[in-house]
Amino acid sequence: MSDTQYDLVVIGAGPGGYVCAIRAAQLGLRTACVEMRGTLGGTCLNVGCIPSKALLTASEKYEEAKHHLGAFGVKVGSVELDLPGLMAHKDGVVKSNTQGIEFLFKKNKVAWLRGRGVVKAPGVVSVEGEGGTSEVTTKAIVIATGSDVMPLPGVAIDETKIVSSTGAIALESVPRRFAVIGGGYIGLEMGSVWARLGAQVTVVEFLDRVLPGMDGEVSKHMQRVMAKQGLTFKLSTKVVGADASGEGVRLTLEPAAGGAQETLEADVVLVAIGRRPYTEGLGLEAAGVVLDERRRVKIDAHFQTNVPGIYAIGDVVAGPMLAHKAEEEGVAVAEILAGQAGHVNYDAIPGVVYTWPEVAQVGKTEEQLKAEGIAYKVGKFPFSANGRARAMNSTEGFVKILADKTTDRVLGVHILGPDAGNMIAELSLAMEFGASAEDIARTSHAHPTLTEAIKEAALAVDGRPIHI
Ligand code: FAD
Ligand code: NAI
Repeated sequence: MSDTQYDLVVIGAGPGGYVCAIRAAQLGLRTACVEMRGTLGGTCLNVGCIPSKALLTASEKYEEAKHHLGAFGVKVGSVELDLPGLMAHKDGVVKSNTQGIEFLFKKNKVAWLRGRGVVKAPGVVSVEGEGGTSEVTTKAIVIATGSDVMPLPGVAIDETKIVSSTGAIALESVPRRFAVIGGGYIGLEMGSVWARLGAQVTVVEFLDRVLPGMDGEVSKHMQRVMAKQGLTFKLSTKVVGADASGEGVRLTLEPAAGGAQETLEADVVLVAIGRRPYTEGLGLEAAGVVLDERRRVKIDAHFQTNVPGIYAIGDVVAGPMLAHKAEEEGVAVAEILAGQAGHVNYDAIPGVVYTWPEVAQVGKTEEQLKAEGIAYKVGKFPFSANGRARAMNSTEGFVKILADKTTDRVLGVHILGPDAGNMIAELSLAMEFGASAEDIARTSHAHPTLTEAIKEAALAVDGRPIHI
């Protein structure tokens, strides 16, 4: 075969696309991945998951050294912020991760076609690169072009005073007043980072709660925790305009239901009201690929669009916009293309907000179970009763397990607490295996660990926790 003929061409090298390409190559498909960004890894590695977690970790360390080490009997001298150093840490982490994908492409013989990929027809992709446009032919195309920032009319992003998450991970100084529009994943994570580094943070949220997709009890508790950390919340409020002509930004706010306006002054405003699928300039309409009402690429149960041979995965299709969801879909579609039975269990995909404490969930929320009329039992255990959490001075939060009232099968788990993001893996596995709460309760959990709170919550489902 010539180097313009492939079994699979993936468009986009984010966690969906690059994982799909590597898995396809492992399975013997001749694979290329088109990426127009100068580095591989997509939103996640370049401007999303990885840099934001580098900043969250670094700012946690600063906050700990400044305010919390004394309580452990550790005296530190004066603690100073070195923002360029903190940003250099983030940039280094991004670089090593994106270069890591280049290494993996070489190792697995995945060709990186640099440039913008355009679907010309089923089986034909053109690549518009710096040196001109070339065309490749392929048996299958996987669209993995991800998502982009959702704009807010009247609040124009300039990435200096009015920023998206991309600007918010690269500010050159700590703003005195940092306003966040949207109390979701990005709002709470980036709000936490800049609050820890010294900004006065105000979160303006349209709905009457933060983290609206999460379990209601968790989101209420989380808002209280964040408020204790100094963040101010304006719920049920919408931003109707922004004036950035002065030194800072003057936001005009209005109650979501309408009413008297007020202004909020900020030095930097973050717009974080969600993301939208990225389908521009891909040639989808000409190729006849159908989008849904939210302009996501419409696919069937095997990730195939209405056009045979064209598939789509990740943020550009329906479902949670999460890197690990995109990765699972990437693996599944590669396996389907190689003649295997790729499958994703959407009931067991965890979601984590990497604040401190963290929020982690898998499966259904109480609200969903009620809406679906499913009878359930609840087992809860607070970290204040967990020995390790006390030793860590990190007793905020709880584990909540929702199990089917009749069969005891675990239907959902919600954790607000230290290291919740790592702990939720046990519960995703439990749900993959169709475990009951009793199965978790009878599993030995090492002492003293935070995971004992999971065991206790499972015992509490049956009304028999030991330590409370
Ligand atoms: P993307 O990662 O968006 O990759 C798509 C790629 O396609 C991009 O590199 C783009 O340049 C390229 N592309 C687009 N069109 C073309 C074209 N025509 N030709 C060539 N290339 C093209 N998720 C988590 O699970 N955990 C987190 O902690 C987390 N943190 C986040 C923090 C932030 C600030 C943001 C913004 C997102 C975060 N996410 C997180 C979400 C996560 O980044 C996305 O769910 C994930 O990146 C989606 O992967 P993807 O492969 O579908 O698309
Ligand atoms: P989000 O959907 O998590 O939150 C957006 C918030 O903005 C919601 O609470 C929504 O009610 C609110 N909102 C919408 N319109 C508004 C308006 N006009 N005024 C005020 N509030 C408004 O979206 P976010 O935070 O932008 O993140 C995008 C996506 O990226 C997330 O949904 C998630 O899928 C992913 N992500 C994941 C992370 C993780 O896994 N830790 C971290 C960051 C992002």
